[in-house]
Amino acid sequence: MRLKIDAQRKLFKRDIMIYGHFLEHFHRQIYGGVFEPGSPLSDDDGFRVDVMDALKKIRVPVIRWPGGCFVSSYHWKKAVGANRVASFDKSWRVEDDNSFGTDEFIKLCGKLGCEPYICLNAGTGSIEEMSDWVEYCNLDHEGEFAKWRIANGHRKPYEVKYWSIGNENYGAWELGAKDSDTWSRLVEESAKLITHVDPNVELTAAALDDIDWNVKLLTRAGERLKWISIHGYWDGLWNVDEPADYMQVMAMSGHTGDALGRVRGLLKAMNLDKSVKIAYDEWNLRGWHHPAAHTVEQGKTPEEYLYPRDRNDINSTYTMADAVFTACFLNTMLRNADVVGMANFAPAVNTRGAIYVYPEGIVKRTTYHVFDMFANMMGDTVLDSWASNGESMICPVKGSDRFEATDCVDAVATLDIDSGKICVSLINRHPEKEQQVIVTGVSGKCRSYTLCGNSP
Ligand code: AHR
Repeated sequence: MRLKIDAQRKLFKRDIMIYGHFLEHFHRQIYGGVFEPGSPLSDDDGFRVDVMDALKKIRVPVIRWPGGCFVSSYHWKKAVGANRVASFDKSWRVEDDNSFGTDEFIKLCGKLGCEPYICLNAGTGSIEEMSDWVEYCNLDHEGEFAKWRIANGHRKPYEVKYWSIGNENYGAWELGAKDSDTWSRLVEESAKLITHVDPNVELTAAALDDIDWNVKLLTRAGERLKWISIHGYWDGLWNVDEPADYMQVMAMSGHTGDALGRVRGLLKAMNLDKSVKIAYDEWNLRGWHHPAAHTVEQGKTPEEYLYPRDRNDINSTYTMADAVFTACFLNTMLRNADVVGMANFAPAVNTRGAIYVYPEGIVKRTTYHVFDMFANMMGDTVLDSWASNGESMICPVKGSDRFEATDCVDAVATLDIDSGKICVSLINRHPEKEQQVIVTGVSGKCRSYTLCGNSP
């Protein structure tokens, strides 16, 4: 394959938030993940120091919280102040003692030096409960909720910039799901209240690559939104945990830009591509395993719906396939960095995350090392480049008897404006064959860093 780089053609700057992450109150992402008061590995605030250090190493720029489906029946007021009220989480059917709430989340982001991004309950919540949350976080002292924050020991406003109205409210699995007409009106009214509290916030709303949903949403509320949110999981393991094999994943890795391209096209058609950015604010190759939860028939015993969630913890699930897919996804984000400003790996910790946490330590899964390379080495500016004469390979499509051709190599070139260094992400999808790539258009000393395994 030949890769011609035009180092003079700087296409656009990428937002570092494309290397963002997501944490939900699901299984052990929060409790027993980032937050474990009483653990000898935790600091005085109850945060696992080893987990914090690992997240800081990959420069996590933004964390979306508290869900995900969890948020669609979450009431934030139960999880602030001295008297936390334990809730029954109707999404995941477990008790949450609410010891981790808004103040703890803001503290977590402070320790990591990352932006907090809060997802609002547009499922069972009211538009006023949403705007009250913005008051609590962002007003200096005016009104009941800012005063409540001060009484809880936090004098200065949190200045939370990123807020999402809802999570997947289009989905039958979501609590308080809405049709597209109801949704567009709800987003407009929520946005009105929220921006009357703090006009500095940047709002997004739950969306997907569906014309009807997005046309109604953007027609009615587009001028009040800075972002539109979409999600992607390619290996749907919600009910049956049979992970796609390496070659099936390689087929999936050729589709990391499909939904994005459709939403991008719609924003362009509606002349919103300059004012509304895409937040890919939940993505992962692997869907989370939680059987009998997103279904009409709910699990009746813990064996049916609760204990199987531990299968997400099987570290050997996450192989070079996950690493190659994740690198292909991040290459796609760089190629589309003019319209994608944020992406959040779902999740950061435990479940299908980059880091597995157990009482005595952590495991950095294959995907962790991909974030380590991209966040620390790739430049901030995407350069024009084009590939030719590349080989392709035939890959099976999971769940069908079809096969499809996938390029063996996926490449993106970047420039670090300050240092002038060019960094190229070259991904070899082939399970065993080396690929020769002749890179032209650049010169000088070259150093290569390779992430590989002794088997797929
Ligand atoms: O499987 C986990 C769920 O995936 C998240 O809670 C939701 O946002 C998405 O459907």
